[in-house]
Amino acid sequence: MSGIVTVVAPVNIAVIKYWGKRNEELILPLNDSVSATLDINVMCAKTSVCARPDFDEDTIWLNGKRESFSNQRLLNCLREIKDRAAYEKSVDNIFLTWKVHICSENNFPTAAGLASSAAGYACLVSALAKLYKVKSDVSLIARLGSGSACRSVYGGFVRWHAGLKSDGSDSIATQVADSKHWPEMRALILVVGESKKKISSTKGMKISTETSDLLKYRVEYCVPKRTEEICQAIKERNYNKFAEITMKESNQFHAICLDSYPPFTYITEVSHKIIELVHTYNEICGEIKVAYTFDAGPNACLYLLEKEVPKVLSLIKHVFPSSSPEAYVTGLSSRSEHLDTNMLSKLSVQPQEKDLIKYIIHTKVGEGPTVLVDGSHLMNEAGIPLSSY
Ligand code: DP6
Repeated sequence: MSGIVTVVAPVNIAVIKYWGKRNEELILPLNDSVSATLDINVMCAKTSVCARPDFDEDTIWLNGKRESFSNQRLLNCLREIKDRAAYEKSVDNIFLTWKVHICSENNFPTAAGLASSAAGYACLVSALAKLYKVKSDVSLIARLGSGSACRSVYGGFVRWHAGLKSDGSDSIATQVADSKHWPEMRALILVVGESKKKISSTKGMKISTETSDLLKYRVEYCVPKRTEEICQAIKERNYNKFAEITMKESNQFHAICLDSYPPFTYITEVSHKIIELVHTYNEICGEIKVAYTFDAGPNACLYLLEKEVPKVLSLIKHVFPSSSPEAYVTGLSSRSEHLDTNMLSKLSVQPQEKDLIKYIIHTKVGEGPTVLVDGSHLMNEAGIPLSSY
């Protein structure tokens, strides 16, 4: 037994956005949020952890590069897991004194508004929970790493309850519906840019909390209603309702970024073109066929039903052509469908120059973090990363 634990964890993309904290240190949000957890087989973080008496210090490697262990959020997660293990008496006390080695990798761009910190911290905390045999809910601990990470601890559709307590003990995630509940739900992630965002979510939401009046209105009046409605829509598999709320939520979140002082923006001209295309297409179809949502970056996540994927993919390829069409769409496979010329003639958005969208990830709703039992660890027997640079 090597004692190495390896876990893969999913990303999640919110449909009710978390934006604003009531406590910065404990990462307590101003409002509830809801997301779908996306298939680990397409996008995931992978983390190997190991604790041994001969390790000199706690060490972490991210995507093969050694990083400082002084990050407060990382320290909080490790401390909390160990406290929980001590409380639950799940491991010998001596084991808690050993140092840990952590290796973590993402198979998708980091910090480009693609929920990498969510998958990363959910993965780290799930791996540590397994290593220290912690049994209780770990969403609360993942939350200490990055707020949105607490939703990646479960599969399917997940709600993060803001909670009321000042210690954050009721600020946890719960499952609204499992990954099999709405099997037709698909996500297309349109990667517009992979560069690191200028204003991190943490910083952006701090500015908004301090300065945006619209945020106060949203938290009090809009989010509570929308959260109940979207949870109901998920339970009833009501796509139309789900899609409408998803788009309105995204729009309000980005309006709040502009209502902040100083204002900032995450979406670009290309993002706006995608929004326009979605609305025009839905209008031509006479009903909502596809919904967009944008996080703290220019990349779109389109939520749509499986039967609509071939047409929508063909439409995107038509409007946003790629110079390498064979590598344009990754993830799940899909047949292509001929576009109706009548529909195209009604489309107000003209084909754009090539490569405005870098690539598309086709995925679906999936399971929560999974412990790998195939021995495909990211570190060798000595606890050193297999690939480092
Ligand atoms: C726009 O979870 O990255 O993706 O808690 O400060 O780490 P911190 O922020 P983070 O914020 C995510 C914001 C969002 C919306 C969402 O996922 O709900």
